[in-house]
Amino acid sequence: MVKIAPSILSADFCDLDREIRRIALAADWLHVDVMDGMFVPNITIGVPVVASIRKHTDLFLDAHLMVEKPGRYVEAFAKAGADLLSVHLEADLPPAIHDALRAMEANGVKKGIALRPITAAEAVIPYLEQGLDLILVMTVEPGFGGQKFMADQLGKIRAIRDYIDRYCPGCDLEVDGGVNLETAKLVTGAGANVLVAGSAVYGAADPAAMIDALRG
Ligand code: DX5
Ligand code: ZN
Repeated sequence: MVKIAPSILSADFCDLDREIRRIALAADWLHVDVMDGMFVPNITIGVPVVASIRKHTDLFLDAHLMVEKPGRYVEAFAKAGADLLSVHLEADLPPAIHDALRAMEANGVKKGIALRPITAAEAVIPYLEQGLDLILVMTVEPGFGGQKFMADQLGKIRAIRDYIDRYCPGCDLEVDGGVNLETAKLVTGAGANVLVAGSAVYGAADPAAMIDALRG
């Protein structure tokens, strides 16, 4: 079954409580985009906002860390109430990414890795035996909502689905960027089972109905 994770990056940050309630009954997860102005050009949400969101919802909090050296923040986001953290493979050297994943385990959060469009499917191989909970494939350059879906990432999604089925069954395969009614079909056809959607959900007149439609 496909899970939909609306991204609050496209919500009204002045009224997050209402924005979360608009999607809460229909959504499977809530996707929180953390950006540091270094790994990506934009700055968005940090630890205190995640802690506040946690008090307002029981939804599974899927925190996408687009920050340099993300291992520095694993404990803080775990304590703030995130349920899953994903760290970008490009954001630090491999030993530090392994350490960040171990820190997630020690802090009781689910473990995810994320790939920029430039990063090849094979880059996930060294992490599979660590027992990942999620692999996130970006289908836009990270940094901003509302960008156009990159169809050239579909082969990578298929390749990672194959690795997961062979070496890490149970790991979720999440796609993030430019997901709408049309591209949702392409990515689920390629093997994704968690879809992040920001502008498609929050730009819809009825966000809950859009979530159901995206699930297919
Ligand atoms: C972009 C973020 C995405 C973003 C997706 O860097 O990681 O989660 O919110 O937004 P849409 O769905 O509008 O492409
Ligand atoms: Zn994201």
